[in-house]
Amino acid sequence: MINIKKIRNDFPMLKKKINGKKIIYFDNASTTFKPNSVIKAINKYYLEENSNSRRGDYDLCYKVDQTIEKTRKLIADFINANPKEIIFTSGTTMSINLIAFGYAVNYLKKGDEILLNEAEHASNVLPWYKVASITGAKIKFIPLDKGRLTLENVKKTITKKTKIITFADVSNVFGYLSPTKEIAYFAHLKKIIVICDVAQSIAHRSIDVCDLDVDFLCFSAHKMYGPTGVGILYGKYDFLKKMEPFIMGGGMNDVFNTDGLVTYLEPPEKFEAGTLNIAGIYGFKAAIEYLNKIGMDNIKNYEKEICNYAFEKLSKNKNIIIYNKNKSINSNIVIFNKKNVFAQDESTYLNSCGVAVRSGQHCAKMLTNTLKTIATIRISFSFYNTKKEIDKLVKFLDNGDFLDAYFN
Ligand code: ALA
Repeated sequence: MINIKKIRNDFPMLKKKINGKKIIYFDNASTTFKPNSVIKAINKYYLEENSNSRRGDYDLCYKVDQTIEKTRKLIADFINANPKEIIFTSGTTMSINLIAFGYAVNYLKKGDEILLNEAEHASNVLPWYKVASITGAKIKFIPLDKGRLTLENVKKTITKKTKIITFADVSNVFGYLSPTKEIAYFAHLKKIIVICDVAQSIAHRSIDVCDLDVDFLCFSAHKMYGPTGVGILYGKYDFLKKMEPFIMGGGMNDVFNTDGLVTYLEPPEKFEAGTLNIAGIYGFKAAIEYLNKIGMDNIKNYEKEICNYAFEKLSKNKNIIIYNKNKSINSNIVIFNKKNVFAQDESTYLNSCGVAVRSGQHCAKMLTNTLKTIATIRISFSFYNTKKEIDKLVKFLDNGDFLDAYFN
């Protein structure tokens, strides 16, 4: 069960006002607010344990090293992986780039195929365009079924030349859940490498890498109540052994000399050159502990309930077009527009009411044809949102109908 009153008390940002109104924050797919425990953990590093990692023979460094490795283990347990398979990066974008330029550029040959789909965020498209231009590999798009990635369409698109398939577990626009496990199973029968971006699902449902059996998986701390600037690349150890580092520096090498000889440490350190975002890792640890305390099943059930409530309430306004309405809704996202109102105008109006939403293309710029509009308003929930906040949003949107009628 979610103790909403207690939870809301944990988040200082929920007490803020925008435009003189108590904030209603519905942009959690972009980034989440941070609980006190996360802020406290970051402060603890700077106030009490500030020192570098892996570089000093004094107590402070030792404490930092211990916290980093405890966090690695906590994250590994969170997704049912081995700590050796957990690499600290700056976030999902960096994690995908690391696979692209550490692994894929060395592995792919001219004519090989990389499978994408039009719902992908820029961070899971643009690195692959670059990889294709370097290697001569070809990008192919899996057709979507009304915005959904389906196993059937994956099967139809795969050929003997397909070497990599990369997709989001949950789309940041539609909120649809991909059949990740089924895709991974089928792709592996064809010896295809499976990369999954769980940035939008990791804070909303349990992720088990052994069950999903994907080869690589990426996510960011800031979308799961942790700090910005830190994230994870998970990779099966055999892949990590074969992957080349493309960021070189201290903390990842074993020896180097004037002859140009250099040997690397083993993964994960091999991919963690330079000073890590240590304060971020302290905060990340507190964020995972916070999620574990609430329980992922409780989070999933609560968010499903409020998301369905939002669908139901928003559907009552005949001037609202919902783009991702679906009975088997399994996420925390609703995208919609007001008839004859540009999305960004509507979200500016909502901002004046104290409601924070995202509008536009949501970094998924290839979806215009599927959506048949160039911009949508996206609301994305967290377990700290309430039905009361949804009622307020609905009221603001209903009130806005008069303004729309006036201006149109
Ligand atoms: N990827 C983030 C979003 O969807 C920024 O809003």
